[in-house]
Amino acid sequence: MAEANLKIGVVGAGVMGSGHVEYLSQEVPGVTVAALAEPNESMRRSVLERWNLTCPEFSTLEEMLDGVDLDGVVIASPDRFHAESVTLCLSRAMPALCEKPLAQTLEDGDKLAQLAQQSLKDVGRPLIHLGFMRRFDPPFVEVKRLIESGELGAILYINASTRNVASPGIKSEELLTNIAVHEVDTLRWLLADEWSNLQVLKGRSASAAPEGTQDPIVLTGTTSKGVVVVADIFANNTYGYDVRCELTFERGVVRVGIWGDITVVKEHEHPAHPAFELGENWIARFRQAYINELVEWTGTLRGKESPDLATIEDGLRALQVLDWVV
Ligand SMILES: NC(=O)c1ccc[n+]([C@@H]2O[C@H](COP(=O)([O-])OP(=O)(O)OC[C@H]3O[C@@H](n4cnc5c(N)ncnc54)[C@H](O)[C@@H]3O)[C@@H](O)[C@H]2O)c1
Repeated sequence: MAEANLKIGVVGAGVMGSGHVEYLSQEVPGVTVAALAEPNESMRRSVLERWNLTCPEFSTLEEMLDGVDLDGVVIASPDRFHAESVTLCLSRAMPALCEKPLAQTLEDGDKLAQLAQQSLKDVGRPLIHLGFMRRFDPPFVEVKRLIESGELGAILYINASTRNVASPGIKSEELLTNIAVHEVDTLRWLLADEWSNLQVLKGRSASAAPEGTQDPIVLTGTTSKGVVVVADIFANNTYGYDVRCELTFERGVVRVGIWGDITVVKEHEHPAHPAFELGENWIARFRQAYINELVEWTGTLRGKESPDLATIEDGLRALQVLDWVV
């Protein structure tokens, strides 16, 4: 007999929440979007109408948890609400996939990790996972395979960029907790290695940055195995969504381009470098990663193991590393 669909509630109907509603209702098998919590009624309506959904609607996560019976929730509200939402889900033993970051401060992250440990004892399985979706992005998965294969020798150096078009109102520390958190987590996962130090270089700020915000910043660091990382974070580049990564190995270079195109430079050969139009935000570039992540997460709701899905410990580790420089 076919298993019943999982009933998933989504929190937030902005850029990410509306994406999750789309993927869950159109792309992920065995799932029903069973509720939407979003304080802005017109945002709620427009997402549900777009995908022809008629589920119960709520203003808050708490009302949603009180009002419907769910198998799990996807939290896509702004960063500042994540800690209280995760706390609420833990108190109700409700599994959740929370968008990154786990919290905005290390103090909140520590409290959540303690609550999660207690819940693990009570429930017997981790209830909270985090939306570090680059772990499910096919190009990054391929790069991890290349690193582990040793085909190009040991990895020595990584140069990465994460550049958004516009981030209205962003503060200096949020370039770290909201954007750089992706690099901090992705590189830990990609290299199966821990950061041993991190520094921030600050220079001139772009005129499109909010007044008083340091944007861009450049992070430099090394991992415990001695891989050097230089990553720039730019929240208001105005020219187009631009996420790239170049990995230098002993015998070659691997580049992940803006649309996830992979170039391998080796044996005196440099394949043609494709030219692309830049997108407006992350949605098109990482669409498949979000879908793969949701497939993986909903699998855990059916009892499957997922070693790649980020846990509270991963979210906490990212906050600890960022706390060296926040
Ligand atoms: N994994 C990724 O690639 C990725 C990319 C972008 C953003 N994010 C994260 O996703 C989250 C949402 O980002 P976004 O770009 O969709 O933001 P957004 O501003 O577009 O949407 C946030 C929505 O949440 C609603 N909201 C506000 N308070 C709420 C509450 N208490 N409960 C429920 N909804 C509430 C807002 O009305 C808004 O509609 C953020 O935490 C962000 O860091 C992740």
